Amino acid sequence: MAGGFNFDEIIDRRNTNCIKWDGIERAISGCDDGDSLRNGDRATGVLPSNELLPMWVADMDFRAPSVVLDRIRAAVDHGIFGYTEVPGDVWEAVTAWVESRYRWSVDPSWMSYTAGVITGLNVAIQTFTRPGEKIVIQPPVYPPFHSSVLSNGRRIVYNPLRRDDDIHGRYRFDLEGLRSLVDRDTRMLVLCNPHNPVGRAWSREELEGIAEIALERDLLVFSDEIHADLILDDLVHCPFASLGPEIAQRTITGIAPSKTFNIAGLKASVIITPNEKLRADFDCAQSRTFGLYHANTFAVVGMHAAYAYGGEWLDAVLAYLQENRDSALQYLARHVPGVRAATPEATFLLWLDFAGTGLAHEEIVRVLREDAQIILNDGTSFGPGGDRCFRLNFGCPRALLDTGMERLGRAFSAREAIG
Ligand SMILES: Cc1ncc(COP(=O)(O)O)c(C=O)c1O
Repeated sequence: MAGGFNFDEIIDRRNTNCIKWDGIERAISGCDDGDSLRNGDRATGVLPSNELLPMWVADMDFRAPSVVLDRIRAAVDHGIFGYTEVPGDVWEAVTAWVESRYRWSVDPSWMSYTAGVITGLNVAIQTFTRPGEKIVIQPPVYPPFHSSVLSNGRRIVYNPLRRDDDIHGRYRFDLEGLRSLVDRDTRMLVLCNPHNPVGRAWSREELEGIAEIALERDLLVFSDEIHADLILDDLVHCPFASLGPEIAQRTITGIAPSKTFNIAGLKASVIITPNEKLRADFDCAQSRTFGLYHANTFAVVGMHAAYAYGGEWLDAVLAYLQENRDSALQYLARHVPGVRAATPEATFLLWLDFAGTGLAHEEIVRVLREDAQIILNDGTSFGPGGDRCFRLNFGCPRALLDTGMERLGRAFSAREAIG
């Protein structure tokens, strides 16, 4: 029990339409091992050895805070789910949260509701760039960054992250690369802060390097800060727009309670735009072009409760995640020497590099599914830099994590023994 919250409880998520557990077949298309998941009837307990363990989609296997559940229950009991607006007290709660957690002074009037940070990114791309213009992203990075640029007919410019060559394999921005890539057709940079999948919580100094180039080259920045609350150790999240008034005027920031409180299915996110003109254009495009002018009833209630009353739950889950991270890293270091992991400073995601196993990417895919029987995200979907890398989600009860790590260790140490 962490602070009175029981994150060790294994909750059966099967048959709840959740992508992580019920969508396994999609992850392994062509393989029918996922069938066993549908047939299971256990509510608790660690999975038997013949069942695939999903450690992919970025949500957690924990129940949302009871303060959120209680308010959603009250809304259900009321029984009328008509058209819903976002009242001022929601924006007050978000403002207080942002100020206390990120030390960023914001105004409630800067905020817009959106159904998802990626919805907000798509609206921003359509509103602030033209077809054919270039948008910079820094891979390996969350796959919808790539598809959002391409599906809107814009061109991707890759400025890959650089990785230190030591055992820690820490990722950094390539500022020189960025400077040389940006030309007259480059309009926007999409930042992932903190970074999914490599788990960096970018420092103020690192972000200032990006800001300098954005100002110099007149770039608009969409800063995806959906993982801002999942900062581990004693680090503090640094919002890109908080670097100064000039940078705030050219930054559109996306945050959400979805990762933080494990309520991604509610589809509640917040876009923060200090620049009045950009904000008016964003709001107008979102309602006119996308028809998104009302909010989901439960999203509003859940978001308010989470930001207003969820702090204690978050602190407890962060302590639990940190122990999960440390336990997974220790296990890897001791038992799976061919796999290198950059220590995540944020998120519940581990970016694993299997290059040291000496296996080709497709063979690693096979060993993970058939021998280890765990489902990870394939690194190649994160763009350049993803070869022989896989993303593992440690946002789950410790017993499930231990099961996954043991399976990983057994599968790869057996191969080393053969080799
Ligand atoms: C960096 C990043 N942005 C956005 C999302 C998805 O956000 P939303 O569901 O609010 O569109 C995720 C989910 O994994 C993510 O990791």
